[in-house]
Amino acid sequence: MTTTATASATQAYGETWYWDNRYVNEPGPFDWYQKYQTLAPIMNLYVPRNHRILVVGCGNSAFGEGLVDDGYEDVVNVDISSVVIEAMKNKYQDHSQLKYMQMDVRNMSAFESNSFGTVIDKGTLDSLLCGNNSRQNATKMLEEVWRVLKDKGVYILVTYGAPLYRLRLLRDSCSWNIKLHVIEKLASEEKSSAPIWELTNPVPLNDDGSSVEQALGKNPDVHYIYICVKDESLKSSSQA
Ligand SMILES: C[S@@+](CC[C@H](N)C(=O)[O-])C[C@H]1O[C@@H](n2cnc3c(N)ncnc32)[C@H](O)[C@@H]1O
Repeated sequence: MTTTATASATQAYGETWYWDNRYVNEPGPFDWYQKYQTLAPIMNLYVPRNHRILVVGCGNSAFGEGLVDDGYEDVVNVDISSVVIEAMKNKYQDHSQLKYMQMDVRNMSAFESNSFGTVIDKGTLDSLLCGNNSRQNATKMLEEVWRVLKDKGVYILVTYGAPLYRLRLLRDSCSWNIKLHVIEKLASEEKSSAPIWELTNPVPLNDDGSSVEQALGKNPDVHYIYICVKDESLKSSSQA
């Protein structure tokens, strides 16, 4: 049982009924955290144009459309909410580069292993971490993301979660090579002042993430972008 209204409201982010209701009442479009345009430099840095891309928990975000407008040609979007998937299929029926499928990220058995070059997650792991059984759900999701990625494929996680709350989870779930970028929460295309950290420069990342606080100060007002590269060789060396 949760003790406050706020706690129970965020806990609902882990529930399908919550998202179905929300998408009935708020058809959007709406982008959590950041829009495509502000994250485009990161996509251009890490995602070659020929990658097959999977967007997990796409919602009614215009991110997929942004990818296609930027030259990506094979973008598959999944979400647990059938309401939003039907709406997005309808909206983008003339965009052959965009596909929408209802699917639970904890079980993506409809996709073969090693079948995507990139997986993009903006707010979906965060949602699973709000619900019941959050740790198990998050681990299942990360294992599925790892499975559908090709070796050296990249999982791009955009989150409000600082390294203290995400690094251990990522490292414990699978064998990733991890880099970290940050972007100001209120980043816009027309910036008036210099950013706290240059978007395309990785932030120094040590084992426990304390280097990030040294570089950016305590509680910086940023979203974190974890670049997690699937590395099969790390898996075999940790098993040796
Ligand atoms: C915070 S929203 C982010 C939406 C979108 N990625 C964006 O950036 O605007 C989280 C999304 O994850 C979806 N979701 C939650 N749990 C899921 C699950 N187990 N499998 C697939 N999608 C899920 C929700 O339906 C919702 O659309």
